[in-house]
Amino acid sequence: MSEVTWVYALKETELADGEKKALLISGQKIALIKKGNELFAISNKCVHMECPLSKGELENYVIKCPCHDWRFDIRSGEFLDAKELKVPVYELKVSDGNIYLKMEGENK
Ligand code: FES
Repeated sequence: MSEVTWVYALKETELADGEKKALLISGQKIALIKKGNELFAISNKCVHMECPLSKGELENYVIKCPCHDWRFDIRSGEFLDAKELKVPVYELKVSDGNIYLKMEGENK
């Protein structure tokens, strides 16, 4: 059975506009991204060869992998050149200035 939990990630003030941070949350590598007033959380492992997307360049809603320039939409996780390929995206919420990510895991 899978269990959904909200896991603390970071304080909202620790992320500036346009900034990307690499985090390890519940054993998952996550890239947390702030763009204007919006926050996004995607897997930090490129689907090509697992390079950290948090080190990529962000332009509008597109992040470019630092290794071989594959581009992903940070809203959906879609690889722009073949939308059937995706990096996982995570739901998030802000409560009292803290950012939480919705993580699913096996209920042991
Ligand atoms: S590892 Fe991301 S494009 Fe190759």
